[in-house]
Amino acid sequence: MTAGAARAAAAAPPEGVRLRPATEADLAGCGEIWRDSLNDYMRRLNLPEIPPELGSIGRLHRHLQATDPERFWLATRAGPGDGADADAERPVAFASAVRRDRLWFLSMLFVRPGEQGTGLGTALLRRILPEDDAVLATATDSAQPISNALYARHAMVPRMPLLGLVGRPTRLAPLGELPSGVTPLPFASVAAGPPGGVGHRELTAAVDGLDRELAGFTHPQDHRFLRTEGRTGFLYRGPDGAPLGYGYASEVGRVGPVAVRDEALLAPVIGHLLGAVVPRDASAIWVPGHADRAAVPLLASGMRLDGFPVLVCWNRPFADFRRYLPISPGLL
Ligand SMILES: CC(C)(COP(=O)(O)OP(=O)(O)OC[C@H]1O[C@@H](n2cnc3c(N)ncnc32)[C@H](O)[C@@H]1OP(=O)(O)O)[C@@H](O)C(=O)NCCC(=O)NCCS
Repeated sequence: MTAGAARAAAAAPPEGVRLRPATEADLAGCGEIWRDSLNDYMRRLNLPEIPPELGSIGRLHRHLQATDPERFWLATRAGPGDGADADAERPVAFASAVRRDRLWFLSMLFVRPGEQGTGLGTALLRRILPEDDAVLATATDSAQPISNALYARHAMVPRMPLLGLVGRPTRLAPLGELPSGVTPLPFASVAAGPPGGVGHRELTAAVDGLDRELAGFTHPQDHRFLRTEGRTGFLYRGPDGAPLGYGYASEVGRVGPVAVRDEALLAPVIGHLLGAVVPRDASAIWVPGHADRAAVPLLASGMRLDGFPVLVCWNRPFADFRRYLPISPGLL
């Protein structure tokens, strides 16, 4: 038996359940599975439920399926099997991972409440695990022992909290100011070329270079997605024009991802982003536990911790989370 065949055999789903790659037409059903399975345990923890509107998670699912269709899988149960419904299938679970250079990142794994605990999550996970020696990573809710155990069993051990900080800073002083000589340039003006700009190709090269050095992988497709999501990117350049970091902020309040070469620039860059794009409501930023140079001043500035931390899990180190703030728990 080949390694691939052995893996598929080990990943057999429960009886009556079929696994297949998802199509764009399946994504609305995946959104419902996502909401129903999360609400099922949030209800038990007395946490507020996710409302029916699935706009932003739906757009993330579309991006995941469009960039990595072979790693976005759906589990279905056959319909009642009578007459016209003979071919009907009911979506019961889905999983999605993305491959970014050597990093394989599990973005989604959700099983409908009534189908949990029967091996379906394990089967889906094994179906999309890579066959090479990729770095494996994911992010899970700290309040969810089942997923934490499932991922740790597959070498993705919870290693670092990811703190959700929300609100608006009541004082910016704790974050400090950008040193003189460090210039923030909106991506659009950089891409437009001189004066002061370096052109589109140079912008991509600068961002890829920062990602390779700080995140441990490049992901130009995710940067394109961020722009379609209305996040404004800034490139921070030193006195000699060298790229020192980048960061994003949006009018709906999302700050990040952020990457800086010098840890000392982290808080001032975040301070700049919080002021450069003023949201209609609150700001929200995901801060790795390793990035104390962001967490401490953000809390001192008046931002508040929101809910349980998320846990980032990996099999071996790949990013410098003291200097890289990811996009979200669903897309590093
Ligand atoms: C988490 C989830 C995807 C797992 O899928 P599932 O189909 O329920 O899980 P499986 O039955 O394949 O496997 C779970 C395994 O974890 C084990 N497990 C459960 N709780 C455990 C614990 N506290 N410690 C150790 N192992 C545990 C089970 O025994 C089982 O292993 P076994 O088959 O060898 O007995 C699913 O339960 C789910 O969607 N939950 C709600 C949404 C969610 O939290 N998704 C993950 C977001 S991070």
